[in-house]
Amino acid sequence: MRSQPCSILLRLLLIHGLFLRLTSSRTTVHRGQFPPSFLFGTATSSFQIEGGYLQGNKSLSNWDVFSHMPGKIEDGSNADVADDHYNLFLEDIELMHSLGVDAYRFSIAWSRVLPQGRFGEVNSEGIEFYNNIIDALLVRDIKPFVTLNHYDLPQLLEDRYGSWLSSEIQLDFGYFAQVCFEAFGDRVTYWSIFNEPNVLIYHGYLLGTYPPGRCSYPFGNCSYGDSALEPYIATHNLVLSHATAAEIYRKYYQEKQGGMIGIVISAPWFEPYDDTPADRLAVQRSLAFYFACISRLPTYSAEERKKLLEGKLDFIGVNHYTTLYVKDCMFSSCASPYSLGDAFVYLTGEKDGAYIGERTAMPLFFVVPRGMEGIVTYVKERYNNTPMFITENGYAQPAGAIKDSLNDTKRIEYHENYLAVLSEVVRKGADVRGYFIWSLLDNFEWLHGYLIRFGLHYVDFQTLKRTPKWSATWYTEFLSEDNKIRAIRKTSTYKM
Ligand code: NOJ
Repeated sequence: MRSQPCSILLRLLLIHGLFLRLTSSRTTVHRGQFPPSFLFGTATSSFQIEGGYLQGNKSLSNWDVFSHMPGKIEDGSNADVADDHYNLFLEDIELMHSLGVDAYRFSIAWSRVLPQGRFGEVNSEGIEFYNNIIDALLVRDIKPFVTLNHYDLPQLLEDRYGSWLSSEIQLDFGYFAQVCFEAFGDRVTYWSIFNEPNVLIYHGYLLGTYPPGRCSYPFGNCSYGDSALEPYIATHNLVLSHATAAEIYRKYYQEKQGGMIGIVISAPWFEPYDDTPADRLAVQRSLAFYFACISRLPTYSAEERKKLLEGKLDFIGVNHYTTLYVKDCMFSSCASPYSLGDAFVYLTGEKDGAYIGERTAMPLFFVVPRGMEGIVTYVKERYNNTPMFITENGYAQPAGAIKDSLNDTKRIEYHENYLAVLSEVVRKGADVRGYFIWSLLDNFEWLHGYLIRFGLHYVDFQTLKRTPKWSATWYTEFLSEDNKIRAIRKTSTYKM
């Protein structure tokens, strides 16, 4: 039976009404609860969205090579095209403009700017691509928040000397950083030198599940590597590469360009599995081995330590999605004592048949808004209230039909609840200066390929068409001018 036009209209009205109810009744949190200078944005990374993997003189990155190896990516996909942002970036910047964001966090593909590392020329097409992005953002009053390394590097540096396992990488990374500061620093004032080095090391050298895929038994099943040793060597070189880049920025650029530099860490919150001293200690060990190890490692020479001190951070970026239970495996036996290598803990989202929070499509990502308070307070206290940005927070949906993906009320709820907790912690004095939703677009989710969607915009990976999800409409409303005015009014009232 064919539907009558008026019943279609009625249905549309009902859907629209439902949508309005779902969105308009969500008034628990709004922009006015944050300081007026607080930056709201969205985040992406080059490998996950750009595609154009051989366009514009780019060389192969370690992730290009790895994702082409059979069996590495769950759905057998790669990121050769991904969102084709390389060709569609202007359209994507328009999407951000419609959202009304203040800032956009993205990363620079090292293999696009320096295809042969420091052994070849700077690639003018790569520089031009990022110049175009930065200029298009600024015209729309969106601040670029740039990451130098989001896991990817030119494969050549892996083949030539083993990338992070060699101290030579410090020279290459320093050079790459300098090229970027020189080319873009007149317009970029927020630099994250690394994104989630703890994840890069953990997956690349302990479990062997990210490139370069190195590990040893019992952590993983790799043909080469040493999980007991290499994570430390790689971390050592990575931290010193960070210090090299920071030193270059401080010496030659910061004064004239006036920017800030920081590092972005993957930062789940941890809670004791049982309320016992052993599990409480296990939480501390997890934080130390997962979050803080990047800032404290053995065997630095006096000169290296000096460089590290000079390279201290202007901000800390916190990528926070989930909270997990931690069980001690040092004083008691566990099913698997290896969740975090030498921390001897077992991480889980489940206890006595119940989950710590609602599950999402991402394994180990549960919805636990109180974790935002835990992690922000930890960073505030441990790092003397260094300025912080929540550089990622996002909700994972399973891949599915467009109609199921667009009405993403769970994502809206997720952000509202995490933001409500964040606004409270800020009110209590944590110096958090911004919040970025992961992600602007559905994109290539590393080992899961296109099976998991984090975007505010749905992407049809066949046609590359972008469609705003309900969460995009919600974010636009959250960021609306009215709400900005509320924030300004509130501060001026405070001042009176
Ligand atoms: C953190 C990473 O920075 C990003 O690349 C990834 O897609 C998200 N987490 C979601 O897993």
